[in-house]
Amino acid sequence: MACTCVVGLQWGDEAKGKIVDLLTADHHIVVRYNGGANAGHTIVKNGKTYKLSLLPTGILTPHMQAVIGNGLVVNPVRFLEEVTNLRDAGIAVGANLVVSDHAHLIFPYHMEEERLTEQGAASAIGTTGRGIGPCYQDKVSRSNGIRVGELLHPEHLRERLHAIVPRKNQALAAFSADAKRFDADALCDEYLGYAATMRPHIQDTGRLLRQALKAGKNLLFEGAQGSLLDVDHGTYPYVTSSNSSTAGIWSGSGVPARNLSRIIGVIKAYTSRVGRGPFPTELDDGPTGIGATIRKIGREVGTVTGRPRRCGWLDLVAVRYSAALGGVDEVTIMLLDVLSTLDEIKICTAYEIDAQRTTDFPGDAFLLDRCKPIYETLPGWKQDISAARTPSDLPAAARRYVDRIAALVELPVSIVSVGPDREQTIPMM
Ligand code: GDP
Ligand code: IMO
Ligand code: MG
Repeated sequence: MACTCVVGLQWGDEAKGKIVDLLTADHHIVVRYNGGANAGHTIVKNGKTYKLSLLPTGILTPHMQAVIGNGLVVNPVRFLEEVTNLRDAGIAVGANLVVSDHAHLIFPYHMEEERLTEQGAASAIGTTGRGIGPCYQDKVSRSNGIRVGELLHPEHLRERLHAIVPRKNQALAAFSADAKRFDADALCDEYLGYAATMRPHIQDTGRLLRQALKAGKNLLFEGAQGSLLDVDHGTYPYVTSSNSSTAGIWSGSGVPARNLSRIIGVIKAYTSRVGRGPFPTELDDGPTGIGATIRKIGREVGTVTGRPRRCGWLDLVAVRYSAALGGVDEVTIMLLDVLSTLDEIKICTAYEIDAQRTTDFPGDAFLLDRCKPIYETLPGWKQDISAARTPSDLPAAARRYVDRIAALVELPVSIVSVGPDREQTIPMM
């Protein structure tokens, strides 16, 4: 029995999807435990590109059971859209996909609430607009949260929506005169339509996973977002609304953390961030600068929103923090090929804040905002590495960069990735 976790150690988009895909052969079940369709995982497999937001990427592997755990917020429209897209791409989706009856449902009023709070606001987080935050708020409020299992009880669902929707309309109208209004019966009918298709997939996934463990099955946990976007441990308030670090696994899946046997921290060879919030190593150096070069070569555009991702040097103060937070056993370094044209490469090894040097990651965004990066500079390798398949295929300067990361993070590097394709992978151990 193995429980492997794949978790991002930065602000998301570390290429977790590729690592999950590489690991599926050794596992029986893949589990998403947090977030929703705010994630965007791109996988390149047999020359085809797949993009998944809500469903675990492990579903692309035929023998895998894919689980949407209780910790997620599920928009049925997205769920059904992704199922249809997968089927159109020739991927079988049936009993291999289960969704927790305890996961929460996203309704159109969540998206409206988010639109009104984000639009033009000085306090905007720069969210993905998928209704994630408002749905988690309703989950915690208890009186407004509706779970996937409730879809299976039409009269009960109607009653709940009749209680909730007028409250929502009132709150939305107070926000803005042009807020959309919602009708409880129309929403109920719409969602009962989705329920008819979703019904065969809905289960108590916590029980399913614990039984699978007992039966000796291997589980693979697919993190969404990155540890620095974790609502408790990330750069609050510029975070998502779930526990996107490994902290979310127990609560978001119902699998006790004591079962986790291998925790893989995924990092990019540099840093990217979408949305607002502090980013000490950001390279905001104009349209011909290094930041723009990385964005162009790394195709750093958000999968969900199409926003250009902010890019910068690798921040090892941040990575060391999230690796320690997540109990990480090993790291994988992704998109190393993207740095191949640079003359020299910088790694942030410490911050300066208020004239003091520190290697501690500050717990608040407003403090991180004041941190200036202290860099170590390494020579670039200035050659294409996308065909490298073994450590010895890498030029000495690239090896040196990887070794320096391992030394600074104090963890072994198990994989180096040199391209989006499955084959463009170098096992390091
Ligand atoms: P995730 O959200 O963590 O799964 O990451 P994303 O899928 O949002 O972003 C990673 C992007 O990088 C995807 O488009 C991948 O296809 C691509 N990718 C993965 N590994 C590599 C790599 O080693 N080199 C390059 N150039 N691209 C990669
Ligand atoms: P994957 O799984 C990168 C960011 C948003 C925003 C903040 C809050 O592909 O790594 P939300 O819609 O969650 O309330 O937005 O979090 N964000 C991500 N950034 N990768 C992601 O997922 C993200 N999911 C959310 O840009 O800054
Ligand atoms: Mg992504």
